[in-house]
Amino acid sequence: MYARLLCTFKIMIETKTSQELMQLEDKYGAHNYHPLPVVLSRGEGVYVWDVEGKRYFDFLSSYSAVNQGHCHPRLVSAMKGQMETLTLTSRAFYNDQLGEYEKYMSEYFGYDKILPMNTGVEAVETAMKLCRKWAYQKKGIPEHSAKIIFAEQNFHGRTLAVISASVDPDARNEYGPYMPGIELVPYNDIEALRTALQDPHIAGFLVEPIQGEAGVVVPDEGYLASAKKLCEEANALFIADEVQTGIARTGKLLATCGNCDCNKSCEKRPEVKADILILGKALSGGMMPVSAVLADDHIMMCIKPGEHGSTFGGNPLACAVAKEALEVVRDEALAENAQRLGEIFRARMQGVVNKTNIASLTRGKGLLNAVVINDSPESKTAWNICIALRDQGLLAKPTHGNIIRFAPPLVMTEEQLHECCDIIEKVLLKFDA
Ligand SMILES: Cc1ncc(COP(=O)(O)O)c(C=O)c1O
Repeated sequence: MYARLLCTFKIMIETKTSQELMQLEDKYGAHNYHPLPVVLSRGEGVYVWDVEGKRYFDFLSSYSAVNQGHCHPRLVSAMKGQMETLTLTSRAFYNDQLGEYEKYMSEYFGYDKILPMNTGVEAVETAMKLCRKWAYQKKGIPEHSAKIIFAEQNFHGRTLAVISASVDPDARNEYGPYMPGIELVPYNDIEALRTALQDPHIAGFLVEPIQGEAGVVVPDEGYLASAKKLCEEANALFIADEVQTGIARTGKLLATCGNCDCNKSCEKRPEVKADILILGKALSGGMMPVSAVLADDHIMMCIKPGEHGSTFGGNPLACAVAKEALEVVRDEALAENAQRLGEIFRARMQGVVNKTNIASLTRGKGLLNAVVINDSPESKTAWNICIALRDQGLLAKPTHGNIIRFAPPLVMTEEQLHECCDIIEKVLLKFDA
């Protein structure tokens, strides 16, 4: 009893305030992010709490990594179970989780094989390497001359190869020299892609089905299907980066599933099947970095032992949690929920757009949405709105200045969504005044 009291007292005097914790990060951490001033210490489902105990709706979901909700009990249990058994073997040896996971993933997404990695950007790099290997071995492009087409305003991560394809000065400036073998075309411009694909050295087209970081930019109906067709005609690989859009976020298992109505069975017959599919983020429901590259044998088998790998890629802990995370998506029908709630969200936001001058546009799919604030990208308005939302108990963040992305965990209920829309509406109306 005395010991417990002492322990509680110790925790009380050692607990730091939000202000103190932010100062610590500021002093000892690199300044490579500009976080919203809120310090979180707990999460459950659609909610997070700050260190002072205030509760918030999470409307970012760690950039769509927490689709299954914070600390989902089934994922916590899968982590604990595997953690107490075996966590890492490296790929120097086999482990009893990897093969089962690979079979599960291949069947779930309808590909022959998976190459497991950790972070999203690593999976993108892996896809780029795989595409180049395929180009030299199967397409017969002379070595060192393969090119991959990317879309302008893309975001695929932060490594040197990937920022070589970026047009964002913040991501690129003073990090050169950049990697060659990259061509850029405007997003959602099928004619520009058609022209670029005429170059016989093109190995593939790597694209986000919806550009998340650019501000949830949704391409025209049919753009992805036409892009895939053009790639086929040019004997180039169509590579979908679904790190942010995948795993039920946009109301389908994959955003490349298109607008068909097949819901639960859509993974078996997507409208556009990428030659290489890149996944990350929600693959572990936010538990740890788990990413994956999927492809059929004629592509995947171009990589031989020793040619690519990662110490942690395919570790037993990742395999166990990722399998459970995908089971949760299916069992809790998260794609269907995202689709249904997304329609309600956009209808409510359209109402705000119609009756105010503060918001000029709302767009998105499923529960990946954005509201464009009627001010310049350099203005502070969207940031100030996010601060006001925080004060009202809802966390969201601007992307590209004047665009606010709204992406809650997919386990949200309709009632909670309406409560959140009320908060957003109230704050936007206040800024409209
Ligand atoms: C489309 C896309 N690709 C790749 C990445 C990079 O993922 P990670 O931050 O896990 O490296 C992101 C991250 O936001 C993303 O949105």
